[in-house]
Amino acid sequence: MEFSRSSVTKAVIPAAGMGTRMRPLTSIIPKEMLPLGGRPAAEYIIEELHSAGINDIIFVVSHEKPEIRSYFGSGGGGISISYVVQEAQRGLADAVLCAEKAVCGQNFVVALGDTVIVSREPVSPTGRLIESFLGRRAFASVIVERVPIEDSVRYGMVHPCGASSGGSFAIDGLVEKPQPAESPSSLAIGGRYVFGPGIFNYIRRTEPGALKEIQITDAIGAGIGCGESVWCTEFAPGEGRYDIGSISSYCRAFAAVCAQDSELSRAVSAGLQCR
Ligand code: G1P
Repeated sequence: MEFSRSSVTKAVIPAAGMGTRMRPLTSIIPKEMLPLGGRPAAEYIIEELHSAGINDIIFVVSHEKPEIRSYFGSGGGGISISYVVQEAQRGLADAVLCAEKAVCGQNFVVALGDTVIVSREPVSPTGRLIESFLGRRAFASVIVERVPIEDSVRYGMVHPCGASSGGSFAIDGLVEKPQPAESPSSLAIGGRYVFGPGIFNYIRRTEPGALKEIQITDAIGAGIGCGESVWCTEFAPGEGRYDIGSISSYCRAFAAVCAQDSELSRAVSAGLQCR
């Protein structure tokens, strides 16, 4: 059966985090507004979502970050943008829950505001994630990438079950920030998710977990425990996921975005030769 990608048209971008690892930069500008090439990081995320059929974006912001709202306003060019406020930093799942009313009972993407994806594939990773979500009639779909096992403490790590087919595979468990020895695999959650509205009931029942925060990983795990089906899609070779949550990964993201543009790419290469 054919499923239209446009069946998921809403996305939530959690962007209320404090950006602690990026201080002092983030005391003057939210990390989501840091420049990548000539534009703020969040603009690339919006473009990526739009190319996957999303036309309704909900930012979850904090009172301390007026810059996001003042730059993007109510959107334009076929994209409507709205804002909900997360009053306290209780974790990623809590940020998603703040958007429940705005999501209006529909399926939706969650795109982390500090994760930029660079892809030259005809269908972006988020587009493929939506296809998998709809095609599998899943409860949730999650993008994953293989990471060195010693990095498991930084990610949600998944446990695949069954073989991959059509570019996606099912999982029967996932753990937030496990020690390498306890990690169920080397596949890390890469900052893009698709959910049905059923996720909100699981979030409401989720207690604080890793880092004493209410984790979306735990809410998804609770769904699996109740028999819900969760599917993962991997990045394609050559696709890159860039975290702008720390200064070194931000520098990588800046260079990767510049590499997409011949003029900026030459400028970055020239700068690297001045040592
Ligand atoms: C969040 C998620 C984690 C995911 C990661 C990707 O963690 O909780 O599961 O792997 O994003 O960047 P954070 O980076 O907020 O600690």
